[in-house]
Amino acid sequence: MAMQKIIETEILNETISSIRKASTLLSQNELVAFPTETVYGLGASAVSNIGVAKIFAAKGRPIYNPLIIHVADEQEVFKLAVVTKEAETLIKNFWPGPLTLVLEQKRNNPILSPLITGNLETIAIRIPMHGTAQKLMREFGSPIAAPSANISGRISPTRAKDVLSHLNGKIAALIQGDNCVVGLESTILNLSTGEPTLLRPGGIPTEEIEAKLGRALLKPMESPSSKSKIIAPGMMNSHYAPRCKLNLNKKIPGPNELFLAFGDMPKRCIGLNLSQNGDLGEAAANFFAALTDIDEMAKLMKINTVSVAPIPNFGLGIAINDRLKRAATPKN
Ligand code: TXA
Ligand code: MG
Repeated sequence: MAMQKIIETEILNETISSIRKASTLLSQNELVAFPTETVYGLGASAVSNIGVAKIFAAKGRPIYNPLIIHVADEQEVFKLAVVTKEAETLIKNFWPGPLTLVLEQKRNNPILSPLITGNLETIAIRIPMHGTAQKLMREFGSPIAAPSANISGRISPTRAKDVLSHLNGKIAALIQGDNCVVGLESTILNLSTGEPTLLRPGGIPTEEIEAKLGRALLKPMESPSSKSKIIAPGMMNSHYAPRCKLNLNKKIPGPNELFLAFGDMPKRCIGLNLSQNGDLGEAAANFFAALTDIDEMAKLMKINTVSVAPIPNFGLGIAINDRLKRAATPKN
């Protein structure tokens, strides 16, 4: 692969002048990482081919994996996409927030870079809730394309320092903000086929979405269009990969292993706890930072394997288990 030019990554804060600086950089086709309530996003102007191409280069992301568009308000969504009745219900209940909707693109949508969606007729779109993300989107005044701010296939960042360990020297700026309170990426639903389909469990539990829709969500394999179309292009089996090996659903770790606990830490075990009280919301908020830190601990201590406690498979636990399964799958 060709060497990328190393640039100086400017660290910005959340003041108005910093937000203006970040917005100017976006309009100059540069990359700016910024906090959202889910994970840090790696932003580029969604109308800039050069800006969007830089996202793929900085992350080492395969070109067939499309990006989520972030907008400040609903008017923007109506300009870009066909908003169905079910989409309206979900927008009313869950936006701004950690929910991404895949919708049919407006035919004469004139502005977005075609690199964002590849050849898909749909776009993935969301309105984030985080105050800094909101300020940046309003200041910029145009859609921002933003995947998670990590190297492709690696652990998503929920702290500014984790963004830097992935992307320092590859992006123009990082807005340093609070840690991400939800801690897992948005739930992604495909609403473009008439049968609402869950593409990625995430920050809004599927049970809550099903309650508002009054029907069950299809899973990708059950979807009527899944045979003919790629509907979830980025759902790789291996993702969020740490360096260490993960052993899932263990009550106690084996000898010479670290332990990622949920609830009580077993006696004489060494590791980190996702939530001492067994709270799934707290575990979600801690998840990517804990995975990053325990991987670093294992490396320093020359330990190969981390065992992970069973996580209850409901509510946010479904999204945590999804991430764990992919993190435990070796990269090929
Ligand atoms: O919480 C989030 O969603 C974060 C923050 C930054 O907003 N973003 C995020 O983006 O997780 P990323 O790129 O890491 O994951 C986006 C996922 C990918 O799996 C991609 O394949 C899928 O969304 N996606 C994007 N556009 C799509 C489309 N038109 N149809 C189906 N899947 C799509
Ligand atoms: Mg990602």
